[in-house]
Amino acid sequence: MTQGPAPSLPRHLAIIMDGNGRWAQQRRRPRLIGHRAGARAVNRTIDFCLERGIASLTLFAFSSENWGRPAEEVEGLMKLFLNALDREVDELHRRGVRVRFIGERERFSAGIVSRMQLAEQRTAGNTAMTLSIAASYGGRLDIVHATRELAREVAAGRLRPEDIDEAMIGQRVALSDLPPPDLFIRTGGDIRISNFLLWQLAYTELWFTDILWPDFTAGVLQQALDDYARRERRFGLTSAQIAAAAAETRSP
Ligand code: FPP
Repeated sequence: MTQGPAPSLPRHLAIIMDGNGRWAQQRRRPRLIGHRAGARAVNRTIDFCLERGIASLTLFAFSSENWGRPAEEVEGLMKLFLNALDREVDELHRRGVRVRFIGERERFSAGIVSRMQLAEQRTAGNTAMTLSIAASYGGRLDIVHATRELAREVAAGRLRPEDIDEAMIGQRVALSDLPPPDLFIRTGGDIRISNFLLWQLAYTELWFTDILWPDFTAGVLQQALDDYARRERRFGLTSAQIAAAAAETRSP
């Protein structure tokens, strides 16, 4: 956990990409046109993060609740995901991006699941950036899965309930091998987390913008990074404690 002034660049950036539907509506176009424009904004964001050396990018592409959208929109989104997987994975691999998916992948079609697996296997050794795509993901369910795993350990007699601590849960939720997100961005004007990485976002700096996701550009992202760099991350401590700890680290 980094204390004191935030390192100027987040190591891990997590984004809720909201506003595709409204972007399309404003243009009197079907919502799917908005999602397509959203996919282009995804590419721009990946390019920016690679250029700037942001080590991990996590994108909320589809929530567990999104299955409830009109069938036509869900089908269109699935086609978009399939096309993106077919089209982009080679290029991501060439650029050294490790791709992986979090969420209930068993709910997707066999075609999508096998492409997800292929993308993960193919890019597993890459180190330029980790791109995690949250698909049919829900933060509460993530914690439920971790809890079930621990309950099984207890039932098998390998763990005592009083020995369960935060680290044990943290090791069993999604993205446990990455540092937690330093910066969270949500586009589209709503000021909420919407069941994204609930456990992982405990000390994350939050940044919201009214900009709709398809309009998200390198300039907007830079604005978020500039705000982030000015924030003081205290992790529950006081400013004076943080300053003292920073001075101690600086002294030889
Ligand atoms: C939220 O906007 C966005 C989604 C539910 C889908 C996100 C998908 C993409 C950005 C497309 C491609 C992604 C990948 C990873 C290839 P919304 O539809 O809720 O917008 P609204 O709030 O204006 O209705």
